[in-house]
Amino acid sequence: MGAPAFQSLAEAAARIVGAADPERKVALTRAAAAAWRGRTLSLSRGLLDPPMPRRPGRPERPALMPPRDVPRRGFGTTAGRTAFMHAIAHIELNAIDLAWDIVGRFAHVQMPRSFYDDWVRVGAEEAGHFSLLAARMAEFDTVYGDHPAHDGLWEAAEATEGDLLARLAIVPLVLEARGLDVTPSMVTKFTALGDTESAAVLNRIYEDEKGHVYVGAAWFRYLCDRQGLAAEPTFHAMVRRHFRGGLKPPFNDKARSAACLTPGFYRPMETIRT
Ligand SMILES: [Fe+2]
Ligand SMILES: [Fe+2]
Repeated sequence: MGAPAFQSLAEAAARIVGAADPERKVALTRAAAAAWRGRTLSLSRGLLDPPMPRRPGRPERPALMPPRDVPRRGFGTTAGRTAFMHAIAHIELNAIDLAWDIVGRFAHVQMPRSFYDDWVRVGAEEAGHFSLLAARMAEFDTVYGDHPAHDGLWEAAEATEGDLLARLAIVPLVLEARGLDVTPSMVTKFTALGDTESAAVLNRIYEDEKGHVYVGAAWFRYLCDRQGLAAEPTFHAMVRRHFRGGLKPPFNDKARSAACLTPGFYRPMETIRT
């Protein structure tokens, strides 16, 4: 790959989200994060910047299908565990785009520089997660694209494309927080099956994701304060407006509170258990 010469952070974000090849998306992410840290990218949106794509670039494979049509397999076989890691890799690929979409789509909103520091770091960590999973799958002769994948992961981005506060409510504080609820049991399952390498990958992702929810909660509160809004009721209103269904228990209260996502946010939005 030739050296990417980004002028602005918004241009880098548009090119990364638009990149169809996952390896290129990861490489561009690394280059953009290094350039941002090295202070060689401007913050302001340049007139010549490409617009943010409405949908992220995707490779020809995997086939994308409605979630109900994605085959489910047990964990008991290597094939089942590989399919599970592929599903997580697909989520991480979307997470790279979601982080950069926060950076690029809302470049017109005046935010402190540390806001971009945080989301560039999140994007770089999501790229790291994708790479860790790809490396682990390669040990089972599997590459990203070998299994069908969920086509609905960009819905939250489209539902919140016009409002940064809504985006922060739904992406880090609903979707990434959900990852904190479900990942520890997956780590336990992989460990019990003797697949400690995959368990270590999932555990590394889990530790980083706490930080993603943390920055989401911090910036959500910041924007609420700036707009004179109470954070918890604003979150409830955003979830009702932009997210189908309530929040599914059980919640990982410990990890959520470590990420400053306190129960007053999510408990009132809990779906009724049937
Ligand atoms: Fe991630
Ligand atoms: Fe994340």
